[in-house]
Amino acid sequence: MPRLVVTNREGETSEIEVDDGLTVMEAIRDNGFDELLALCGGCCSCATCHVHVDPAFAELLPKMSEDEDDLLESSDHRAPTSRLSCQIPFSAALDGLHVTIAPED
Ligand code: FES
Repeated sequence: MPRLVVTNREGETSEIEVDDGLTVMEAIRDNGFDELLALCGGCCSCATCHVHVDPAFAELLPKMSEDEDDLLESSDHRAPTSRLSCQIPFSAALDGLHVTIAPED
């Protein structure tokens, strides 16, 4: 099963295995990272699923929509590697993807 590497807000890194068909947000939330609130449930309307993605994987990620871009703009912690994790479908092609949960806004 493909693996996702997650660093939490305490700087602790762990590796989780991800079922087919989940987004990065769902994979993180379903593995007990309760600091990723994902309040809108993945509708791209809350920005509480903000993560920073390892730049090595940037080319493999889906293009950012205007809505995602606007929401990230409202964060004080936006970085060039910022994405909303609910907008990244996880797949075997992303095996080993490393994301860091962004600080709370
Ligand atoms: S879960 Fe709300 S924008 Fe991603």
